[in-house]
Amino acid sequence: MNILDIIAKKRDKKELSKEEIDYFISKYISGEITDYQAAALVMAIYINGMNYEETKNLTLAMAHSGKTLDLSDISKTIIDKHSSGGVGDKVTLILMPIVASFGIPVAKMSGRGLGITGGTIDKLESIPGYKTDLSLDEFKKNIKEIGISLIGQTENLAPADKKIYALRDTISCTESIPLIASSIMSKKIAAGANKLVLEVTCGSGAFMKTKEDAETLSKVMSKIGELAGIETVCVITNMEQPIGKNIGNALEVEEALKALQGEMEEDVKEIVLCLGAQIIKLAGISTDIEKNKEMILENLKNGKAYRKFIELIEKQHGNVEYLNHIEKAKQIIPVKADKSGYVEKLRAETIGRAALGLGAGRVKKEDKIDYTCGIVLEKKIWDKVSVGDTLAYVHSNKEENIEEAIEKVKEAYGIAEKEPERYVDILNII
Ligand code: URA
Repeated sequence: MNILDIIAKKRDKKELSKEEIDYFISKYISGEITDYQAAALVMAIYINGMNYEETKNLTLAMAHSGKTLDLSDISKTIIDKHSSGGVGDKVTLILMPIVASFGIPVAKMSGRGLGITGGTIDKLESIPGYKTDLSLDEFKKNIKEIGISLIGQTENLAPADKKIYALRDTISCTESIPLIASSIMSKKIAAGANKLVLEVTCGSGAFMKTKEDAETLSKVMSKIGELAGIETVCVITNMEQPIGKNIGNALEVEEALKALQGEMEEDVKEIVLCLGAQIIKLAGISTDIEKNKEMILENLKNGKAYRKFIELIEKQHGNVEYLNHIEKAKQIIPVKADKSGYVEKLRAETIGRAALGLGAGRVKKEDKIDYTCGIVLEKKIWDKVSVGDTLAYVHSNKEENIEEAIEKVKEAYGIAEKEPERYVDILNII
């Protein structure tokens, strides 16, 4: 078997066998297949797709490319959650401490930013000292001791995904059902949880642009979850506009902190309550979704969820004191409306590109993130605006990036005379 034949087969729209997929993963991990050969195969998969059988085999090969964790000695229910990526998506930072505040064990391995979407690990690393690369023993110890741990991909868990994920990010191969399904599910299988809630984002700021594609992705992931013994629920969320107000790593940590202290944007709240209620149901605490939402609101009000977040940061060596004065970018510039009316569009993709241009994400694999830069949205879809109102603020540390970011933010907004129709944030639950 050799990689050239495998690339050619996928290039020519043929189905890859389990042996060929296993060969690709093991030889890429060992370094015998180069990045440019892997890039060619990933691009062929992106263009020609994979059927369920191939996607399942790719997922399992990636999941078993390193260690797999067994967490069954901690509890019979271990929860994990993952998002297929979005702009301003700080849901994990808010939701997981909420879940842990109910005594439900949370074991989560998150990703870094991908394309225009942010990643939880980059957000957490904006907190000085926070360690995302705990050893697997420490990861388990933290779940046992405080009921939650949030780490990045270690070299040991699903290393194939770590390599392919970083590669996809730099060759424009992010929006692909088999690549996303295998990336997410391989991590989840390796990390050892047995109940999983997936936030499958859909819209201009997501990898899945249509509800149909989001449903297909959800079904593939649920089927793979079932096969691996993971009870999986997918919640399809609307990503036409960014989630919440802040986009950018430290800015999103700041918004998450406020949310945990009771000041939560309505769209964020809807998603957090929906996912949280499903998790409480999966954990076997209560099947009454409305009651579960009330219980979540109670744990936000009584401070339990906030205290759990602080405990998590402390336990993973983050500087808790810093959370009282999160660093800001050097320049904060308002972007003003030049038209009156209602915000009809707030294109998440364009806002994501603006944030990327400011340094909130990576263009090249080795790029360093600028944690404090980003965008704060003052007006969102359905808000009324008058000429001269501030639509958003651009936070930047580099003079040369500002003009382009302002232009992009302006381009992201569509202002109409009439109030636009309302849409829902939760599109489907699978
Ligand atoms: N999140 C992941 O972990 N992988 C993807 O491919 C997309 C979102």
